[in-house]
Amino acid sequence: MSIKSKENSMPIYVAIDMTTKKRLFWCLCLLLVFVVWYVFFGAGRSEQYAAMKQSMDEYETLLRETREQILDRLKMCQRDCQHWDPEAPVIYAVTPTYARPVQKAELTRLSQTLMHVSNLHWIVIEDAVKKSSLVENLLARTNLNHTHLFVQTPVPYRRKGSPRGVEQRNAALRWLRKNKTMNDKGVVYFADDDNSYSLQVFDEMRYTKEVSVWPVGLVGGLMVEKPILNLTTGKVVGWNSAWRPDRPFPIDMAGFAISLQHILKKSKAYFAYNVSGGFQESHILQQLTVRENLEPKADNCTQVLVWHTRTEGPRLTEENKLIARGIHSDVGLEV
Ligand SMILES: *[C@@H]1O[C@H](CO)[C@@H](O)[C@H](O)[C@H]1NC(C)=O
Ligand SMILES: *[C@@H]1O[C@H](CO)[C@@H](O)[C@H](O)[C@H]1NC(C)=O
Ligand SMILES: *[C@@H]1O[C@H](CO)[C@@H](O)[C@H](O)[C@H]1NC(C)=O
Ligand SMILES: *[C@@H]1O[C@H](CO)[C@@H](O)[C@H](O)[C@H]1NC(C)=O
Ligand SMILES: *[C@@H]1O[C@H](CO)[C@@H](O)[C@H](O)[C@H]1NC(C)=O
Repeated sequence: MSIKSKENSMPIYVAIDMTTKKRLFWCLCLLLVFVVWYVFFGAGRSEQYAAMKQSMDEYETLLRETREQILDRLKMCQRDCQHWDPEAPVIYAVTPTYARPVQKAELTRLSQTLMHVSNLHWIVIEDAVKKSSLVENLLARTNLNHTHLFVQTPVPYRRKGSPRGVEQRNAALRWLRKNKTMNDKGVVYFADDDNSYSLQVFDEMRYTKEVSVWPVGLVGGLMVEKPILNLTTGKVVGWNSAWRPDRPFPIDMAGFAISLQHILKKSKAYFAYNVSGGFQESHILQQLTVRENLEPKADNCTQVLVWHTRTEGPRLTEENKLIARGIHSDVGLEV
């Protein structure tokens, strides 16, 4: 076998040797031609090349400038083209927020949901002594029509177990009552930054006359907490809640919206600290309406369009070890 292949390979070896020699010859010829060509014409070419490179560079700069101009125009256009119908009611989404590791992630997610909602004005209220650059930057980057407020929770209510967002939601109510008139059509929705919202829920609430309600998923220890309707009358007759069903309005903050005119009319309605935990919703709604007047939405409360999701607190054990040594992983970075 090996002998046979050796015999076979002999002529091939010779052939390769011949072609290699031929190739080498032609290569040398080509090199000669190139050298001759370079000696006679090459020198002039380098000037030509420099000129060409310069004009290419100029083109590149021009293209870059044009690209920047186009991007600017696009940004302006997105701002202007964002659907704003002066005839349609404005949704005032009220979001209290406070500094914590997941704050930017939560607000980014919510803002990108709200960007898909037409005629929306986002009122973000920080629990802080001043506006933070994190929230300010985030709002500046969105194309959303927004108002940025801040108010700090008073010291006695800053401890765990105190209701959260009272001061901030009240600041938004004050802002609306000061800055809006009965001629302004709108609806007020308390949209916390950790929930998940279907875009449909905003369509449902937009034409609220006084106070509208709908189911909320994953809350009160249930898959869904929802109003129960009398299907003949289409009115709310009760609730399915399991946790403190004795609440006057056993419903989550994400499960109702109030018309702006109604907020203006009932000008004394505010959130308060001296109500039991989980009774904020009942407290505000008792000042605004009675059960019989509630307007059920989401196909007579048969659709779940908002979920009380909660972000798991991130485990920052390694970061805390770094911090103990005076180091941070996020130096110069906004996370
Ligand atoms: C922002 O909202 C106001 C009403 O609050 C409205 O008059 C204005 O047109 C809106 N602007 C944009 C760009 O959406
Ligand atoms: C009304 O709106 C303006 C502009 O956002 C703001 O400066 C003012 O504080 C608002 N009024 C109240 C009572 O919040
Ligand atoms: C629904 O309302 C009608 C009219 O008020 C009443 O006759 C009926 O008993 C109610 N049904 C239920 C299940 O409550
Ligand atoms: C809700 O129920 C009422 C009363 O049964 C009915 O008249 C109405 O058409 C229903 N609405 C929807 C959207 O299903
Ligand atoms: C709760 O506080 C308000 C003032 O913020 C007061 O008017 C009201 O009487 C208090 N209610 C109770 C039950 O303490």
